[in-house]
Amino acid sequence: MSAELDYKDFVHTAPGTLAGRYLRTFWQPVYCSHELPPGRAVPIRIMDEDFTLYRGGERGTPHLVGFRCPHRGTQLSLGWVEGDCIRCFYHGWKYDGSGQCIEQPAEPKPFANKIRIPSYPVQEHIGLIFAYLGEGEPPPFTRYPKLADPDIVLDVVRWNRICNYFNNIDNSLDNAHVRFVHKRHRETARDQIVKGDPRITVEETDWGIKRNVSYPNGAEVVAFFGMPNINYVNGQVVDSDIKRADVILFKVPVDDENHIHFEVRAIPLKGDYARRWLEGRRQKRTMEASSRAELVKAVLSGKLQLSDIDPNRTDYVIIEDEIAQTGQGKIADRRREHLGLSDAGVILLRKIWERELQALAEGQPLKQWTYRQDMIPVYPNL
Ligand code: FES
Ligand SMILES: [Fe+2]
Repeated sequence: MSAELDYKDFVHTAPGTLAGRYLRTFWQPVYCSHELPPGRAVPIRIMDEDFTLYRGGERGTPHLVGFRCPHRGTQLSLGWVEGDCIRCFYHGWKYDGSGQCIEQPAEPKPFANKIRIPSYPVQEHIGLIFAYLGEGEPPPFTRYPKLADPDIVLDVVRWNRICNYFNNIDNSLDNAHVRFVHKRHRETARDQIVKGDPRITVEETDWGIKRNVSYPNGAEVVAFFGMPNINYVNGQVVDSDIKRADVILFKVPVDDENHIHFEVRAIPLKGDYARRWLEGRRQKRTMEASSRAELVKAVLSGKLQLSDIDPNRTDYVIIEDEIAQTGQGKIADRRREHLGLSDAGVILLRKIWERELQALAEGQPLKQWTYRQDMIPVYPNL
């Protein structure tokens, strides 16, 4: 792609790409808090870069540092967490949370003060570990007070999806798909409220895009998209007991053909019952996780149909969205599309993205996006 058209390329996010540089100007979720116990280190890949994420063994602080040990290059996640430090598995060099090497056990003349690995600012909020992977000082960290309410339980999930993250970003603004992709919910309480084809209006806000979705029966839904890759909605059906929940979603590239769909659901349950519900949910999800990618591939290749899949799976809605989005191709070819009025949200989203990437390419100031506490999604009551 020629340099002057780079700002139309949202899909490539490796270091040095324009979209990659843009995404790196924001804090991004990189892992789920509950999946990283104290003393544990894991390798992670975000926007075509590898990192080591670990949680300190004593205070439980998460740290994000480079992927490889600079001695002879083995991957640091194999090593041991000691306090807030990580020790390499191969020859025991030890690094603190700032990436500074502080021990070289086999060296008669240690030169640890000359060795440093990259390290990145980390924050933890609403059950997610966020990192700032860009240059310079990070921007202010966004908090979501309604989701941090101690009276709700957060069901926090991370799904790897086998397509480019922008297939999923486009989907954030696409209400017209719900009636078809999530057809099964027509039988649920949700569809007694919202029936028929919605009329969608969208407007740019301080945070991204607000959308008002009006249904023929008068039901009005309000949802928010936060730049650059956040969707904040209400109305998602969780299970037959919990009809709807506030949900915030982040779509983060792993590489150009894979991304992570982070989802934080505010479950309106309390106390022991809430803890048991969450535990049961996580166990079921763990059992289902290993088969999901294969099911998606089987449906896409025609070996299975969606109707062959157990509709009681906790990830059924995820599978519905995943086959629609992956069915566009790993990277959707946007040059061949034919957009209509129902794509107003998608069109506005891309216009904003293009405007910001062009500003970045030309060294112009970027819009500073701000979440406000009154940006709360609305769904009609039963
Ligand atoms: S490779 Fe890490 S200490 Fe040798
Ligand atoms: Fe969907």
